[in-house]
Amino acid sequence: MTIRAAVRGVGHYLPEKVFENREFAATLDTSDDWIRSRSGIERRHFAAEGETTSDLAAKAAEAALADAGLTPADIDAVVVATSTADLTFPSAATMVQAKIGMTQGFAYDVQAVCAGFVFALSNANGLILSGQADRVLVIGAETFSRIMDWTDRGTCVLFGDGAGALILERTEGTGTPEDRGILASDLHSDGRYQDILYVDGGVSTQSTGHLRMHGKEVFRHAVEKLAETAHLSLGKLGLTGEDVDWIVPHQANLRIIKATAQKMGVPMDRVVITVQDHGNTSAASIPLALSVGKARGQIKPGDLIVAEAIGGGLAWGSVVFRW
Ligand code: UT7
Repeated sequence: MTIRAAVRGVGHYLPEKVFENREFAATLDTSDDWIRSRSGIERRHFAAEGETTSDLAAKAAEAALADAGLTPADIDAVVVATSTADLTFPSAATMVQAKIGMTQGFAYDVQAVCAGFVFALSNANGLILSGQADRVLVIGAETFSRIMDWTDRGTCVLFGDGAGALILERTEGTGTPEDRGILASDLHSDGRYQDILYVDGGVSTQSTGHLRMHGKEVFRHAVEKLAETAHLSLGKLGLTGEDVDWIVPHQANLRIIKATAQKMGVPMDRVVITVQDHGNTSAASIPLALSVGKARGQIKPGDLIVAEAIGGGLAWGSVVFRW
C-alpha cells in the first residue's frame, strides 16, 4: 500500500475588474497587437482598491471546499504560495484560515514567485506522505498589480491578479503511475540569476519596490528549464510526454508555453491555456488553469497532468499527478 495525496477539490477566484490590452494605450506607447503577438495576453483582472491577496485566496479556498463537499473543519493545513502577501507578517495563509473560519490545524506561506504553486504542491504532498496532515488546502494567490511600475511597458502589460486552490487528500494507492494523486516532482533554483527577475524593494531594504525583468533572458531560461524539469519528473515514473493528457503550465507567455510543449513532444490540444484571459498571475496561474480546465471539461478524472513553472530566483520545477 502506498500513500498518495490526491486532488479532492479545485476552485478559483478572479477580481471583478477586467483590463483589456487596448486600455494600456491611453498611458503607454504600446498596442493590443504588440501585447497579443509577443505574449498571447488579451486581458487580465485587477484587484479592487482594498482587495488583498488573502481576500482572493479565501474566495478560491471557499470554491475548492464547495467543489470537494468539505468544510473548513475538514482541513488540517493551509499552504499559500504567494509573493504578494497582504502584510509582512502574519502569513497570508493564517489570514485565509481566519477568513474561512478554520480554527484548527496550521497555515503558512511558501514564496518561490511564479514557481510558487509547484513548490507548494510538492511541499503539501510531503505533509501528507509524512503523516503530518490528511487534507491540505494548497492555494496560489497574487496581487501583482501592486508591484507594477506602470511606466514600464516591458512588464506592466504582462501581469494580473487572481487566486486558485486545490484540496489534496490522503488516499491509498498501489504505488504505480496508475494511482490518482501526486506521483512525482522535480524542483530547482539558482540564485545566480536573481538579477534577471526581481522586485527592487522589500522589508529589509525598507521599500515596497517594483517588479524588474530582463524579459528576453527569462524567456531563454524558461523554455530550456521547463522542458527539462518536465522530462525529469516524468522520467522518475518511466513516462514521457506521450503519456501526458494535459500540460498545465505556468501562464506567462503563449510563446514559452508553445515552445515547451513542442520540446516535450506534446501537441497544443493537450495544453491548458488561460494566459489570454488572466495574463501572468505568478503563483496563482497553475491552480487557476487547473480550475478553469476542469470547468471547461478539459481535465477529467484519471487524466495524467504535468504542471511546470519558472520564476524569480530563478526557481523552477514540475509536478506530475493523476487527476
Ligand atoms: O512569470 C515569470 C517568468 N516570466 C516570463 O516568463 C517572461 C519571459 N519573457 C517574455 O515573456 C518576453 O521576453 C516579453 C513578452 C517580456 C517580451 O517579448 P520579447 O519578444 O522578448 O521582446 P523584447 O523585450 O525583446 O522587446 C522587443 C521590442 C523592444 O523594442 P526595441 O528595443 O526592439 O526597439 C521593446 O522596447 O519591443 C519593445 N517593447 C514594447 N513595445 C510595445 C517592450 N514592451 C513593449 C510593449 N509595447 N508593451
